[in-house]
Amino acid sequence: MRLTFLGHVGFHVETEHGSVLCDPWFTPAYFGSWFPFPRNDDLDPADFAAPDFLYVSHLHRDHFDPEFLARHVRKDVRVLLPDFPTPFLERELRDLGFRHFVRTRNGERHDVDGLEVAIMAMTAPADGPLGDSAIVIGDGRTRLFDQNDARPGDPAAVHALGPFDAHVVQFSGAIWYPIVYDLPHPQRARLAREKRANQMARARRYIEWVKAPNVFPCAGPPCFLDEALFAYNDLHGDPENIFPDQTVFLDELARAGIDTGRLVVPGSVVELDGERCTVTHPSPDAARRPFAEKEAYLREYQRDWAGWLASEVASWSHGRRDLLGELAAWFEPLVARAPITSAGIAGAVVIDVGDEAIAVDFVEGRVRPWRPGEPYVYKVDVDRRLVESLVERHVEDWVNSLFLSCRFVAHRPGPFNEYVMTFFKALSEERIDYVEACHREARAADEWFERDGWRIERWCPHRQADLTRFGEIDGGVLTCSLHHWRFDLATGRCLTSDDRRLRCERLGPPG
Ligand code: FES
Repeated sequence: MRLTFLGHVGFHVETEHGSVLCDPWFTPAYFGSWFPFPRNDDLDPADFAAPDFLYVSHLHRDHFDPEFLARHVRKDVRVLLPDFPTPFLERELRDLGFRHFVRTRNGERHDVDGLEVAIMAMTAPADGPLGDSAIVIGDGRTRLFDQNDARPGDPAAVHALGPFDAHVVQFSGAIWYPIVYDLPHPQRARLAREKRANQMARARRYIEWVKAPNVFPCAGPPCFLDEALFAYNDLHGDPENIFPDQTVFLDELARAGIDTGRLVVPGSVVELDGERCTVTHPSPDAARRPFAEKEAYLREYQRDWAGWLASEVASWSHGRRDLLGELAAWFEPLVARAPITSAGIAGAVVIDVGDEAIAVDFVEGRVRPWRPGEPYVYKVDVDRRLVESLVERHVEDWVNSLFLSCRFVAHRPGPFNEYVMTFFKALSEERIDYVEACHREARAADEWFERDGWRIERWCPHRQADLTRFGEIDGGVLTCSLHHWRFDLATGRCLTSDDRRLRCERLGPPG
């Protein structure tokens, strides 16, 4: 088996049973924030544009590069499709002209004309852009586990597809937390130190699980060439930087006594024969300079892409839009379809574009002006042009666009709220219905709690608020403080509306 590394987590995998192009990423992503590191713009796409199979692990733009796929990859290739319950990945690929799909079943081995393929599909709303995946590719002598940035949670399910000769795993930052948060410096620095250490520790845990004799740390870090973001690059091994590069992680592994890590840079060729492995870099300098002379290397990269970046910034806005009106028309019907998400947020998410601030109010189900001083669950301060661009292009996943761009400042008075993130990944009826169905399924088991001598169902019959959090009992009446509906505990009758009942019962004999 031969792997040619294409940058980030792109690979061209060649075997005697066919070749697979995995996650090719070449076009800077997220409003021109992320660029592949080390740079891969000198590779010739003709060398890998006609594989037998294409695999796109998920729709994050550093894995799914529609411009590159449209322009360079033959449309008659067969696409190895993860077993996602949603149609979004297939739909995007069909829109680009791909027509031949090999549908895999989650976690099962498939023999595709002699090539062994298994794809683990992760499908919870929290997984990537409503779905993420990892692939196993085997040719009878050698087996590769390309985990990229997926997070399988069950070692037994991974082992069932092994043993593996090579393992591709993410180890660096691919997130906006905590770097965009408006926090006092000591706190943000502490959180960043923890984040840097935790993401490398997680990768190490996966390496120890998978036990492959050859490990390729990939899927990041990206680099940031816009001057406004340039400080996010880890130029000097800063312990508070969440984007450590491959050499930092390989040193970490070596310190832990793990000697299976291998460096690859774009154009590196890996020959694998079972566990035997040789890596040939395009040149000694290609494997040294991006890391040893990082700042000079990135400045040169920045100069080369300055024109592209200027046109990207110029494309963000085509004139002032009525953001309040357009967001109300778009979001209010979605909030109405999303009682569990709304109850999970239970407050306002504020989009502050400088000359106006707009509250998406998940309690009232409205999009309205926000007044300074009003409470919020989450607030983003963001360049108006970016929001106008999202509205103009009707982007249905703002996590896979605005959030990953790191081009905003975030404020959050309380803890992390997963419901906020899943709402902003799901800005269409189809997407939000999927998210709500997942939440409903997770709650399918009857859940109850006990308080003040009563056993009470956990989720409010109005719009699914968690009554362990929002329920207040006074004089035999439970009030859900989210919308102040009241329930008589003796009968379960709703005192606010006739058509709902609360399931509850007194514990022990009546006093
Ligand atoms: S969710 Fe509305 S009152 Fe409980």
